[in-house]
This record gives sequence, structure tokens and C-alpha cells, in this order.
Amino acid sequence: MRTKVFAANWKMNKTRKEAKSFLEALKKSKFEGREIIVLPSFLSLADAVKACKDTQIRIGAQNMHFADAGAFTGEVSPLMLKDIGVTHVLIGHSERRHLFKEDNALIQKKVASAISHGFHVIFCVGETLDEREQGKTRIVVREQMEALRGLKDAEQLMIAYEPVWAIGTGKTATPEQAEEVHSYIRMLIAQLFSKSAAEHIRILYGGSVTPENIAGLLAKESIDGALVGGASLDVKSFTKIAKA
Ligand code: 13P
Repeated sequence: MRTKVFAANWKMNKTRKEAKSFLEALKKSKFEGREIIVLPSFLSLADAVKACKDTQIRIGAQNMHFADAGAFTGEVSPLMLKDIGVTHVLIGHSERRHLFKEDNALIQKKVASAISHGFHVIFCVGETLDEREQGKTRIVVREQMEALRGLKDAEQLMIAYEPVWAIGTGKTATPEQAEEVHSYIRMLIAQLFSKSAAEHIRILYGGSVTPENIAGLLAKESIDGALVGGASLDVKSFTKIAKA
């Protein structure tokens, strides 16, 4: 059995004060048999780790540089994240890929670095609308998944399938559309790592997840949770999703 995971990707939202009051409220709920991860902005990470100490909530960063230190103005290193007690890192989010031009080669370095520093990695993949309409979904996802080839350890890995056309658009993938790609990703995991890795690695769906559509998605065999953007900004709606 794969434990269901629910991750809140706040993106560039919430001040420290807002983050604190969200987490104080979230801590009041029990999420039995579920894994809960919150990904605040860098500036709220240290407070968030402290606020969630001794709770089931894990705190992750939305991005990370691959190098331990150096002349990389404006970047945050794995050592800095480790130093404040961050346990999870999101890598390859479509906004990083498309708005900040991160390519597969860079993303590969980041994943390898994060895993070697002992972080749990939520690795994001997903096609654009154009790519889907051209029938290229599998090709794109396979190319993105190649960034994982050669990783020594798949234990700390989770995959998030986030079709770009579903992110922030209110147009979620149907459970069938999502499941089709999730089971393809599971097959790729078996090829890249092993059959056992394919059975254990959680694959989250992301893209306009709401309290209303989550149950249908979770009913699918290969959908092991959700990476939630907009609906994770409100503690009530994220709690509903994570308890679905
Ligand atoms: P939305 O839930 O706002 O569509 O965002 C999804 C996402 O990008 C999570 O990482």
C-alpha cells in the first residue's frame, strides 16, 4: 500500500505572518494515514519548520540550486535548506521550466544533488496543451523522466504529474486522463529503476485540484495524492483535499 501524499505548493504567496497562521490552523487537524507536505516561500521556511516540529507536517522548498555554495547570486543551496531542517524539495515544476527556462539538464543536476543531500524530492513532469494536442504527451513525459536516469537511490523520490494546461486554469485533467499518464510514468519508473520502485514510488497529480474533484482522482489505482496550488492557499480547502 502506498501512503497518500498531499502537498501544498504555495508558489509566490503568503507573508511569514500568513504562513504562520495557516500552519497553526492546519496543525489542529489530524490526517490519519496520510503524508502532508507544505512548500512555503524560502523566507517562511525556517519559521515553518519550527512551527511544525513534532507534527506530521513536513516542510519543503519549492526550488534549490544544485551546488553546495558558490557565486550564484540569488540562489539557495542544499546546505542552507538542510541547515534549517527542510526535508523535502520540489524540483522541475513547470513554472521553473517555462518561466525560468530550466531545462532537463539543469533539472537533472538539481535532482541528483537533492537526493545526495538526503532530501525527499517531488519531481514534476507534464506536457503543455500544444504537446498534448500533437499527441506528444508520452514523448515529453519520457524525456523529462530521463533526468532520473542514473540516480543511485529512488527511495526518496516522488513524482508529480502536472499537465501544464491544467495548472491554474480551473481545467483539471479527468481522472482517466491523469491515470493514463500516471500508469505510463509507473512503467517508466520500472524501466529506470526496478519493479519494486515502481510499486513504491508515489505519483501525485497536480493541476486545478479542488475539494470537489479530488475524490474522483484518488479513486484511480495509480494516483497517490495531489500537489495543490491555488486551493492550498486556503487552509479549509487544503484540509478538505488532504482528508478526501
Ligand atoms: P493549481 O492547483 O493552482 O492549478 O496549481 C497546481 C500546481 O502547479 C501545483 O504545483
